[in-house]
Amino acid sequence: MTTFLSGIQPSGLPHVGNYFGAIKQHIEAVAEGGEHFYFIADYHSLTTSRDPAALRENVRETAITYLALGLDPEQAVLFRQSDVPEVTELTWLLSTVTGMGLLERAHSYKDKLARGIKPTVGLFTYPVLMAADILAYDSNIVPVGKDQKQHVEMAQDMAGYFNAAYGDVFVRPECRLPATDTLARVPGLDGEKMSKSYGNHLWIFESEKKLKKAIGRIPTDSRPPEEPKDPDALLLFDFLELFLDPEELAGWQERVRTGGEGAPGYGHLKARLVEAIDERFGPARERREALIANPGEVDEILARGAERARVRARATRDRALAACGLR
Ligand code: ADP
Ligand code: TRP
Repeated sequence: MTTFLSGIQPSGLPHVGNYFGAIKQHIEAVAEGGEHFYFIADYHSLTTSRDPAALRENVRETAITYLALGLDPEQAVLFRQSDVPEVTELTWLLSTVTGMGLLERAHSYKDKLARGIKPTVGLFTYPVLMAADILAYDSNIVPVGKDQKQHVEMAQDMAGYFNAAYGDVFVRPECRLPATDTLARVPGLDGEKMSKSYGNHLWIFESEKKLKKAIGRIPTDSRPPEEPKDPDALLLFDFLELFLDPEELAGWQERVRTGGEGAPGYGHLKARLVEAIDERFGPARERREALIANPGEVDEILARGAERARVRARATRDRALAACGLR
């Protein structure tokens, strides 16, 4: 049976980039069958968070987001990373076979340093914890956004180093990226990669008023609607591509390309985008409200998920300890 696993850091409220790059893939993969483990990477968040109350809130909000968007907790194991402390034991074992050089090459570590984040040991060994997450569940497929690809490759390397030293203990995971480039790198409202750290993000459950305001911020130019334009050169169309079905999208592209009398202006396109976002997330917004009103349900799902996840992680941990002579 194929095992899928992925995690998402609860470092803020999930945004549209997280949705298309990660969460949507996870939820859709469940329909393929196999086993599914999705978790909230709260240990990882400690490399950047110093606010316990916000962390607690973001963990809950991330769990609620998955459930509201349709993750079925019966078919997928949804859990909190820190409920499975075995991964920290595996992190240690993997760190003893991993060269400093491998970690020094990590893009995300270098990016974070460049952004002025203090280089703690935890930030440096972040990919080792991530490898432990992946290997603990004998994962075959790890669906992630493009920026996590290198981390998955590092997990492959670490599994290889450990297995070379101690025999076949870990399963080699494969990375799965979103189907298109736009999905793998959703632009923010300013055209850069959407990211909490750039402040250019759109929260999945934004209220209609704020949503309208945010879409209004997408930069356009002063060309009149009648003037023919290349839709591929317009940021607005990157967003429309995410939310419209291909047939409708093609229609708008054609009208913009042709220009003239019936061509839509930017305001018109933005209004359609707001509507389409609301169509996509409206039902989930309602489910989210229901989950917020019933916190016990979320706690119970996470507790059950932790139990199921722990059974697997414990078995892998025991196998690894035995292989290296600690049992
Ligand atoms: P952020 O950059 O906002 O801090 P994270 O690094 O927490 O986002 O990303 C969580 C998940 O969402 C990762 O799997 C990542 O690949 C995905 N992701 C984040 N931003 C985007 C984006 N703009 N486009 C596609 N996927 C994204
Ligand atoms: N580093 C990932 C991110 O920032 C989160 C993560 C932690 C993860 N452990 C993982 C993703 C294991 C996939 C598999 O989004």
